[in-house]
Amino acid sequence: MIIDQLDTPLSGTSLKPTPAGSAYTDAEIFRREQAEIFEKMWNAVLRVESLASPGQWRTVTVGREEIIVVRTRKAGIKAYLNVCRHRGMRVCTTAEGRSKTLQCGYHAWTYALEGELVAAPNLTSMPDVDRGEYGLKTVHVREWLGYVWVCVTGSAGSPAQSAADGAAGGASPGPSAPPSFEETVMAEVSTRFGEVQSLQNYGVEGLRVGETRRYEVAANWKLIIENFMECYHCATIHPELTEVIPEFAEGWASQAKDEIHGASFGAQVQGFTVDGSAGVAALPAIAPEQDRKYYAITVRPQVFINTVPDHVIFHRMYPISASKTIVECDWLFLPEVIEQRMDISRSVELFHRVNLQDFEACEQTQPNMSSRAYEEGGALVPSEHHIAEFHQWWADRIGS
Ligand code: FES
Ligand SMILES: [Fe+2]
Repeated sequence: MIIDQLDTPLSGTSLKPTPAGSAYTDAEIFRREQAEIFEKMWNAVLRVESLASPGQWRTVTVGREEIIVVRTRKAGIKAYLNVCRHRGMRVCTTAEGRSKTLQCGYHAWTYALEGELVAAPNLTSMPDVDRGEYGLKTVHVREWLGYVWVCVTGSAGSPAQSAADGAAGGASPGPSAPPSFEETVMAEVSTRFGEVQSLQNYGVEGLRVGETRRYEVAANWKLIIENFMECYHCATIHPELTEVIPEFAEGWASQAKDEIHGASFGAQVQGFTVDGSAGVAALPAIAPEQDRKYYAITVRPQVFINTVPDHVIFHRMYPISASKTIVECDWLFLPEVIEQRMDISRSVELFHRVNLQDFEACEQTQPNMSSRAYEEGGALVPSEHHIAEFHQWWADRIGS
């Protein structure tokens, strides 16, 4: 048992406990997190705009599975486990590509973009082999906020089965059905943002990627979430951010308050940029109360969304091991900002620095998770108490 009453204050103090250090280092716990959290929940994996034309595909990792995400000719975006049905080789062996079919490089089994097996050496002499049955295994897909979200739960369907599910109005109920997107992803957004419409005001779906940065962080994914959820560290490690948002120097993150809280720009600040200078034009549909404000939400298990008046910063996390996590961060702007090559460098630089500062802190913490000094874990101060709810959720999911 790693967890004992995570939401109960440590006796006689205003502190709450954290999980024990082993929760951040143990390979068996990490395996359970992969199985019970990342492989059972919806994960945002890539921007829809990155698969613009039929035949374009990318490979992504979710939990312990590698997935092909492809734009088909007839069926929009689909996703498959990247496992050849013949003898198991990876069908796509690079990060991205464009092709008319998906052909395995081992014995040349060839799959349509829609997943069915369409050709294989000597296949015509094996008429008993059902090409639908031996198609690539499909993965559940949703598009929302301009991202492709996937869930590998079940993922045992052949293309023929998933077509039947689609005709019935969605994935079939039962063990292979993914959790309701509305009751998980969208509900998280409305819990933390008031209502989904408040986020829709930013028009995230229609924005374009101005910049993507990829960070390899030598830290457990939970340290990164915990860091993102609190601002107790802001005064210490984020000089540029607290200059733009002075209230962060008091240590209360916008996620720490009970009400939906947008953090205000400083009086002299013109925009959410590294030096507080003006950004680009505000997104047209934001509400008056969203102007000159910063909001941050965590969509468990692997998305962080930050909104400011003129852009949206969207993080996706991919845990690789108990002590290594890849984080991809997109800076999203209005299409005309990208098309007219407006200067977004000062906007990108602000949160890029925040990212580097945060990830360095996480990396300096990770090695000490296995110290005897942290065998029983650490402590959460009152402005971090909301993290206890995350810890309890985590413990419930992995059955600790
Ligand atoms: S393993 Fe793919 S064709 Fe044989
Ligand atoms: Fe931070």
